[in-house]
Amino acid sequence: MTPGRFITFEGGEGGGKSTQIEKLADYLRGRGVSVQVTREPGGTEVAEAIRRVLLDKSLPAMRADTELMLMFAARVEHVETLIKPALASGDWVLSDRFADASHVYQGAGRGVDETRLDALHRWSLGDFEPDLTLLLDLPVEQGMARVRQRGVKDRFEEEQTEFFERVRAGYLARAARFSQRFRVIDASDDIDTVARRIQTVVDAWLPN
Ligand code: TMP
Repeated sequence: MTPGRFITFEGGEGGGKSTQIEKLADYLRGRGVSVQVTREPGGTEVAEAIRRVLLDKSLPAMRADTELMLMFAARVEHVETLIKPALASGDWVLSDRFADASHVYQGAGRGVDETRLDALHRWSLGDFEPDLTLLLDLPVEQGMARVRQRGVKDRFEEEQTEFFERVRAGYLARAARFSQRFRVIDASDDIDTVARRIQTVVDAWLPN
């Protein structure tokens, strides 16, 4: 049995990740691939319960370290109970965010020290990582305008523009550092244009 592939979608708010992940899933299914779509924080019952705590605006502010460890707690559940078994059974897994989001939101965004963050990452996941990461990049203001249109904001979406500028710069820096695994997608255009861009990138990457 050939193990499945693990593809992650990353990017700031309002970049269309959840729409594009479904479009890529349909595209791959059309090519006969068995696909599971999931998200972080979340993806399993326990991890979704942790997600509710993380996004709850009615709670007082939490420490950046608390937020970081909850992200990795949810991720360990997700990796061990959903992602690895799915890959082992030959399914492909498409995840809306993964560990890069912690380096960028809690590291670049909140200022958690990268050495400590790396240590927690290794402790939690070892060398498990995505086969391919699609970074949906667009100007912060454009993403924020899309979020405003959606209406109610979660705890992260309430952050100020400077935070999201650090997030965007953090993602682009990570994409440059891990260029083997990352592909940067211009997500500033309409849904179908971006979907075609993603398909082209995945086709070029697809193992023959
Ligand atoms: P979502 O908007 O993609 O559903 O993600 C929920 C929020 O959680 C989003 O604002 C980004 C944030 N987040 C982190 O801060 N660190 C992480 O590790 C992950 C996975 C998400």
